[in-house]
Amino acid sequence: MLSGIITWGNKTRFCVLQFVTFLVIYTVLPYAETSNTTPAPTWPPHQKIYDHRPLSDPYCKAGIYPFCPTGLPYGKVPKVKPTDTLFVYAMKAPVWEFKFGDLLKKFDIMHDAIGFHHVESGLNITMEWYELFQLFNCTFPHLRTVNKSTELQWCNQGAACLYMGIDEKHWKQNGTLIKVSQITGDIFNNFISWTQTDNKTYPYYETWTVMAGPGKNVWFNPFDCASWVIRAFETMHDLGASFDQSVHLNYTKIILYSQQPKLVGNSSTIYNDTDTLDKLVSFYGYFQKRASMADVVLHLLLYLEWFEFHKLFYIYYNEQYWELDMVKPYAQLTYDEVPLPKNTW
Ligand SMILES: *[C@@H]1O[C@H](CO)[C@@H](O)[C@H](O)[C@H]1NC(C)=O
Ligand SMILES: *[C@@H]1O[C@H](CO)[C@@H](O)[C@H](O)[C@H]1NC(C)=O
Ligand SMILES: *[C@@H]1O[C@H](CO)[C@@H](O)[C@H](O)[C@H]1NC(C)=O
Ligand SMILES: *[C@@H]1O[C@H](CO)[C@@H](O)[C@H](O)[C@H]1NC(C)=O
Ligand SMILES: *[C@@H]1O[C@H](CO)[C@@H](O)[C@H](O)[C@H]1NC(C)=O
Ligand SMILES: *[C@@H]1O[C@H](CO)[C@@H](O)[C@H](O)[C@H]1NC(C)=O
Ligand SMILES: *[C@@H]1O[C@H](CO)[C@@H](O)[C@H](O)[C@H]1NC(C)=O
Ligand SMILES: *[C@@H]1O[C@H](CO)[C@@H](O)[C@H](O)[C@H]1NC(C)=O
Repeated sequence: MLSGIITWGNKTRFCVLQFVTFLVIYTVLPYAETSNTTPAPTWPPHQKIYDHRPLSDPYCKAGIYPFCPTGLPYGKVPKVKPTDTLFVYAMKAPVWEFKFGDLLKKFDIMHDAIGFHHVESGLNITMEWYELFQLFNCTFPHLRTVNKSTELQWCNQGAACLYMGIDEKHWKQNGTLIKVSQITGDIFNNFISWTQTDNKTYPYYETWTVMAGPGKNVWFNPFDCASWVIRAFETMHDLGASFDQSVHLNYTKIILYSQQPKLVGNSSTIYNDTDTLDKLVSFYGYFQKRASMADVVLHLLLYLEWFEFHKLFYIYYNEQYWELDMVKPYAQLTYDEVPLPKNTW
């Protein structure tokens, strides 16, 4: 629904003031030239696998909303008897509901999580995967001056947070709380081990989905709360869970459209390539100066102005920088269904 509203194309929105702003940006940011060689990976590349979660730089601070304040420490998730029963819930709430109420629901911008109800004890557990240092910091790096040279500092870790209880009002009032499966304690215990392994294997958040065009091939998949929930349901299914096929779940995606991405360098090689570094610094500097628009999704319209004008964007994926030559409609928010895993046995 929002896709209709937010898709760029309506030129009437160009007001004079905006146009002046563009001119300023345009002269500040040198038009990036297409880069030289790009090894052709298989698209979309798999998210890079790590054997442990790297320590995040002390520079990265969560600000007023700490990550996972009431989280269950490692090994403190209650173990249940293998023959016990747990209900599994898919849960959704509008992003930043605490700040904007149900506003973002109107744009289908939803956060996803999973709930468990342990039938024998009545205890509930919530599990969600989100940014350690908030969405803006996962989307753009900070420009940091180290020994008089500029570095691109990413604070882009994401992780799973498991905590006791289900805040029913939070999930139900403007969102969804719906039972999708009923599993054994054995499946649950195995699933908990998976959450810990997965948490070390995939430490980084990725905001954007990048595609060749609507309905066309995918260059980059996102790695966010919804990706985790989808991955978690698949894992439960592999462990033996059956899902209620009458439940249909849609997930929010922020999609950029571009030609085949070109590799411009990785987190260390860019510092040896002054031209590329300058381009990245002016690109990210533009967005950093607008750090007040830290609410990425709310400002997508502003980004669309950028896309329309520059037809160029950079994304950082698997510790590599990629240049995107944007194609119409440049960007879109979608809220499409991803079916629950089906039994094949
Ligand atoms: C991360 O984002 C939050 C909110 O957008 C901000 O307050 C904080 O300063 C940012 N910076 C770092 C380095 O984490
Ligand atoms: C749901 O949205 C309404 C309207 O914005 C808001 O007043 C209410 O607090 C929201 N519910 C929760 C649980 O935040
Ligand atoms: C757990 O969730 C169920 C269903 O939402 C609710 O009826 C029950 O009161 C909750 N139990 C606790 C201990 O919060
Ligand atoms: C900055 O330069 C000093 C002196 O060359 C060096 O000791 C220090 O490690 C450098 N700092 C960083 C963060 O590279
Ligand atoms: C995942 O890692 C984060 C960050 O280190 C930690 O706070 C969280 O408890 C971990 N979650 C799980 C399920 O291990
Ligand atoms: C970046 O590329 C260089 C040269 O190909 C390589 O040696 C280095 O390991 C790469 N670093 C990362 C973080 O991928
Ligand atoms: C950067 O250049 C220096 C000097 O030529 C070289 O020693 C270093 O290995 C290069 N680093 C990368 C990441 O390419
Ligand atoms: C959910 O996605 C399907 C297609 O994937 C779409 O037809 C349907 O309208 C979407 N539902 C909502 C509420 O947006």
